Amino acid sequence: MRRTNTCGELRSGDIGKEVCLQGWVRFSRDHGGVAFIDLADRYGITQVVFDPEDLPEGTDADPLSEVMRSFTRESAVSIEGTVRMRVEGTEDRRNPTGEVEVLITGAVLINRSRSPPFELGDQKEGVLPNEDTRMRYRYLDLRRTDMIHAMEMRSRFLHLARQYMDENRFLEIETPILARSTPEGARDYLVPSRVHPGAFYALPQSPQLFKQMLMIGSMDRYYQIARCFRDEDSRKDRQPEFTQIDMEMSFVDSKDIQDMIEGLVAYIWKGLYGREIEIPFRRIGYREAMESYGSDKPDLRYGLKFISLTETVKDARYEIFQRIIKAGGIVAGINLKADIAGDRIGRNDVDRYINQAKKFGLGGLTWMRCRDGKLDSNIAKYFTPEILDAIKRKMDAEEGDLLFLIAGPWKSTYEGGGALRRKLAEDLELIPEDEMQFLWLVDCPMFEIDPVSGKHDAFHHPFVLPENDLDDAYVGGACFDLCLNGNELGSGSLRIHDPELQREVFRKIGMDDERIEADFGFFVEALGYGAPPHGGMALGVDRFISILLGKETIRDVIAFPKNKKAVSLLDRSPAKVDDKKLEELQIMTLAAEDMDFDDIGNVDDN
Ligand code: AMO
Repeated sequence: MRRTNTCGELRSGDIGKEVCLQGWVRFSRDHGGVAFIDLADRYGITQVVFDPEDLPEGTDADPLSEVMRSFTRESAVSIEGTVRMRVEGTEDRRNPTGEVEVLITGAVLINRSRSPPFELGDQKEGVLPNEDTRMRYRYLDLRRTDMIHAMEMRSRFLHLARQYMDENRFLEIETPILARSTPEGARDYLVPSRVHPGAFYALPQSPQLFKQMLMIGSMDRYYQIARCFRDEDSRKDRQPEFTQIDMEMSFVDSKDIQDMIEGLVAYIWKGLYGREIEIPFRRIGYREAMESYGSDKPDLRYGLKFISLTETVKDARYEIFQRIIKAGGIVAGINLKADIAGDRIGRNDVDRYINQAKKFGLGGLTWMRCRDGKLDSNIAKYFTPEILDAIKRKMDAEEGDLLFLIAGPWKSTYEGGGALRRKLAEDLELIPEDEMQFLWLVDCPMFEIDPVSGKHDAFHHPFVLPENDLDDAYVGGACFDLCLNGNELGSGSLRIHDPELQREVFRKIGMDDERIEADFGFFVEALGYGAPPHGGMALGVDRFISILLGKETIRDVIAFPKNKKAVSLLDRSPAKVDDKKLEELQIMTLAAEDMDFDDIGNVDDN
C-alpha cells in the first residue's frame, strides 16, 4: 500500500476516489459490528469506516475483520478504501474532512502501539496528564493537535525570519558551540576537553563576542537562529537551552537596528496572520517604565499606573514614610478607580493584598479610600487635611476610589509594585487576552549600582556603548529591549568599538587588568584592528512564539524541553557517565548519587 492522501486532505470533491491513508488510530468505536475510526496524522483526522457487510463483491470479510481488531489506539496503520459522503446529519462541521469518510476495502497494521499513557484526542478540560508525564512520552504528546500546531507555527516563524533577513542582505553564519564563556549573567555549561585535560569549553550563553568579531571581519550584516545555553533556574519563560534570532550590523545607530527588527516583526506578522502590524512601536524610557508600571518590561494592555507621591507626603508626620524618604526612598500610589475596582475590593481583600505585600517584594502596603469627598484610612490621622487633599488631587481620587500606596527603596519598591499591579490586573480581569502591545524600552542605564556596596554591574552586558563619560554620576547605555505584553522578547545595543573604552568598562565593573587580559584579551585585541561602529540584537524565539500562541510556558513551543528541574525525562538527562569516560577526561566527581528520575516532582516555576 502506498499513501495517496494525508488525513487532512479529503473533501466532498473527492467522493468516489479510491485512496490509501496511513496514520495513527486516534479513536475507534463500534456501532453494531461497523467500526468507525478516527485516523490521524500531522495534517488532520479522517473518519474511516469498516463495514463487513459493505465490502466489494468477492472480498472475504474475515481476514479483514481480524486486521481491524488489531487496530489498537495509536497504532500506525494503513487503510485503502473509497471516499464517500457521510450519512446526512453525521457530518462534523468543525473538522475540514468532516463531510466525508473512507469506506475500508483493505487494511494493514503497520506497527502496533502499546496502550498510550494518556489520551491524545482533542483535549477537554482536565484530560491532559501532568506535564512530567507528557515530557516522559513527548513523542506521543507531539501527536496532539495543539503540539502539532505549535511546531508548525514555530517552523513558519523561523522560515519567515530567514526570508526577511536574507532579503535584507544578512548573512546566516554559524558561530562555535564549543567556545570560551561569554558573560551574559548566568552560569555556563562546561564541556571538558579530552585533548587538554583540566581545560573546559563553555557552551555559548549567546554568540555575542563572535558576532561582534564577524563585524570586525567585515561581514556587515549577520544573523543566526542561534541555540544558547544558560545554567539558570528554569521558569515558565526560561529554559537551559533556548533559541534566539541573533543579529548584528555595522555602521549603524540604535534606530537602524530597531527599524530592522520592527520590519522583521511586521514581516513575520504579515506572513503568519496576513495582517499589517502598526510600526513604529511605542518607546518608553527605563525610568518612566519603572516609575509608572513597576517593570522594565511593562504590560501596556491595562492601566493601573503608579504616580509618585514622594514630594506630596514628605512632610507628613507618618514616621514610616519619613524614614524611607530620608533614606532616599520613594512613595508612590496606584488608583483603583471605583468603577473598575474600588467597589470590588472590600476590606477583607485589602487585608489579603497587605498580607501578600512581602511576596511581591514590598516592605508593606498602605491603603486609602475616597469616601464622602475625603481620603479615609487607618493611617489618615498621621496626615494633615492639606496633605490628604494634595494626595487626592495628585492621584485624581474620586468617590469610591481605592488607593494603594507603596514605599521603600526605588528599585525594589517599584518592582514589588509591578508585581502587585499585575496581580491586581489578573484578579480584576483587566487584561485583554487577544491584544498585542509591543514597546521599546529605551534610555537605559549603563550600569546597575548596588546601593550599599556601590559595586557596578553591567545593566545589559559590558559590550554596550556608554552614552557619556564613565566618570559621570549617571551613565546611560545605548541599549534597548523589545517587550510584548509584559515580557522581554529581546534586547540589543550599540557596542563599544574602541579597545581602550572596552577596557575602561571592564575596569568599572570590577575587573583588574590581569583578569581582562585573561578573559577578554583576544576580544579587546580584535577591537584594535579597525573595528567598525556596530550593534545588534537578539530576539527570544521560544518566548515570542509562546506569546503568539497564548501558551503559559515556553516548554509548550519547544519539541523536547527540559522540565522545571532542568531534567529531560525522555532521555533521562543529565545522567552519570561511565567512570571510564571520566578517567579519560581526568575528572573526578564529588557527588556519588545517581539521578533519581522518579523523584523529579513538580516544582513551582513562576
Ligand atoms: P539577552 O540575554 O537579553 O541578550 O537575551 C536575548 C533574549 O533571549 C531570550 N532569553 C531566553 N529565552 C528562554 N530561556 C532563557 N533562559 C533565556 N534567556 C534569554 C529572551 C531575551 O530577551 N547577546 C545579547 C543580545 C545582544 O545584545 O545582541 C543577549 O543574549 O527573549
